[in-house]
Amino acid sequence: MTDVNIDWDNLGFDFMPTKGMFLSKWEEKTGWDEGKVVPFGNFEISPAACVLNYGQGIFEGMKALRTKANKLVLFRPLDNGKRLKAGCERLLIPPYDPKKFVDDVKKVVKINEDYIPPYGKGALYIRPVLWGTGPILGVAPAPSYTFIIFVVPVGPYYKEGFNPIKLAITEFHRAAPKGTGGIKTICNYAGSMLPAKKVKEKGYNQELYLDAANGKYIEEVGTANFFCVVNNVLMTPRLTGSILPGNTRASIIDIAKKKLKMKVEERDITIDEVLKASEVFCSGTAAVVTPIGSLLYKGKDHVFNDFKVGSVTQKLYDLLTKIQLQEEEDIFGWVVEVEPDLVVKIQT
Ligand code: COI
Repeated sequence: MTDVNIDWDNLGFDFMPTKGMFLSKWEEKTGWDEGKVVPFGNFEISPAACVLNYGQGIFEGMKALRTKANKLVLFRPLDNGKRLKAGCERLLIPPYDPKKFVDDVKKVVKINEDYIPPYGKGALYIRPVLWGTGPILGVAPAPSYTFIIFVVPVGPYYKEGFNPIKLAITEFHRAAPKGTGGIKTICNYAGSMLPAKKVKEKGYNQELYLDAANGKYIEEVGTANFFCVVNNVLMTPRLTGSILPGNTRASIIDIAKKKLKMKVEERDITIDEVLKASEVFCSGTAAVVTPIGSLLYKGKDHVFNDFKVGSVTQKLYDLLTKIQLQEEEDIFGWVVEVEPDLVVKIQT
């Protein structure tokens, strides 16, 4: 590694510019071009761009890690590519090929190799984002598209790190049945800013959403999926279409079943059931596995496991992060290495 002048010991989840980004464009006549790695920087966009006026945009969140043996590894990148493609279909965006997506991600990681934190100090957060950038006036899909992958070195998403956080049930809803909650469209996140601000003002880390149809079942934490342990059964809300199908969520379910031999239920979970849980946590690429110490509901903070990290949560966190770092056998075939001899050049 060369010195890029970053305080690796104090990384948060904050933007900073890095060396290069991937850029590809789609036009009606040519489809997606080959794309290229260019210097990280601004680009021009029409004020009439569909994404700026009508929100036709979608993103992914991934991480590259440096292992103890100094390998650069990705976690289930093809699944991110497939989820992006499914989201494109919902938003009438020309789909991006998931296999090419993985190759492009590897190129961006490689060119930004010096920005990947040293082993154990954090991750390179990868942000693929695809927008309808062509100009349009009536509400309709854009006439042209831009796909970019940029990266930022990050530490923990919550400043608490792997320590319990405080959640509050919000009166807002995140997504409607048959809406866009099940895809990673940028619009879902704009709507979550006010609910998050309101709970943060009261001293909570993040909001927990109940379903929009009944106001009864748990849906998601602001930026992560929800899990709880009740009578030794691991439970998580079933994917109704309004819940994001997280890759970390899917991995935790498999690890719990195959490695911890736990019973796992994906089903509707009422708030009353959660209040009886022995452990509660949330999961996501950014959040990894984050323990939840308490939940504000009807004016009362309900505390779980004395506000301590529970044993199931700890085991799942350890197994997941060890698999990701090639320190535990990857029986699932999830970890993908960035080839050490991959040669990537910046183009202008
Ligand atoms: C991720 O976990 O990668 C997410 O997309 C959450 C992000 C909005 C910070």
